[in-house]
Amino acid sequence: MIRRVSAAAVGAVLVGSLAACGGGDSSDASDDDSITMGFAQVGAESGWRTANTKSIKDTAKQEGVTLKFSDAQQKQENQIKAIRSYIQQKVDVIAFSPVVETGWDTVLQEAKRAKIPVILTDRSVDSDDTSLYETFLGSDFVLEGEKAGDWLVENADAADTDTNGSINVVQLEGTTGAAPAIDRADGFKEKIGADPRIEVTASQTGDFTRDGGKKVMESFLKSQPDIDVVYAHNDDMGLGAIEAIEAAGKKPGTDIKIITVDAVKDGMTALSQGKINFIVECNPLLGPQLMDLAQKVVAGEEVPERVVTEETTFDQEQAKAALPDRQY
Ligand code: AHR
Repeated sequence: MIRRVSAAAVGAVLVGSLAACGGGDSSDASDDDSITMGFAQVGAESGWRTANTKSIKDTAKQEGVTLKFSDAQQKQENQIKAIRSYIQQKVDVIAFSPVVETGWDTVLQEAKRAKIPVILTDRSVDSDDTSLYETFLGSDFVLEGEKAGDWLVENADAADTDTNGSINVVQLEGTTGAAPAIDRADGFKEKIGADPRIEVTASQTGDFTRDGGKKVMESFLKSQPDIDVVYAHNDDMGLGAIEAIEAAGKKPGTDIKIITVDAVKDGMTALSQGKINFIVECNPLLGPQLMDLAQKVVAGEEVPERVVTEETTFDQEQAKAALPDRQY
């Protein structure tokens, strides 16, 4: 499926460039004919997010895109405020990574009325009106959850460390209501259904942070007598869980198997050390594709409705091989 942006949006290039010259929040000045992007980031909750922000800022600079950047500190109301401010400033294009899936229609309708195209990046919105955005660039989070579930089914015998015939999984969920938290849980659940020994016995949000993962794991270790596996929706929560497991006198990766998502350097290091057993990659380096899509959208060129990021998985040996060249 292909989308074409209206001529009115092309006209906005000129207006936006003039507005950009007038300065703004964290914008980088660049060529007069450059486009201006307002980017509303989720926050700085994880290593993945830090790498994602760096990729967006670095690529904007390289491509001469004037970037107005805001950090919503994982709060939807802050993202909505930032988007409204970008509309007021008449930027050429708005891009954002929605902290949660629902509740965006009103502000996206405001952007549409102002004829400012919107690009969803990393996370999508749950809306019936797909005319509210031009394209969605990011991972297939359901597939990521499926890959995690497939690995557990394939390694179920090894995961049953106490050989009692039941494989109890505790799940550290991402931010409640966020697309990756919902989809990674769904994909995983779907796949572990293939083995009746595997059951998610407890599941709670750690908000995608290391501290959140540690706290939730500490409480799971007290309330759950027989934990075989931790499935963490990102590396940071998995790394927090490792701290809690070690503090409880157990060996992460051996006494309790750990599966995470992201494959940032800290996660890959723990995987290579045997403290994590399997990581599903989620690529944060979206800057180059995002700037390319933005330039096309503003120029009125055709863009695909959905651009899916290509990703892989890592076991412990693959992590050792990949670590020296890992960029983030
Ligand atoms: O939306 C991507 C997710 O958000 C990453 O997996 C996680 O680390 C981040 O906070």
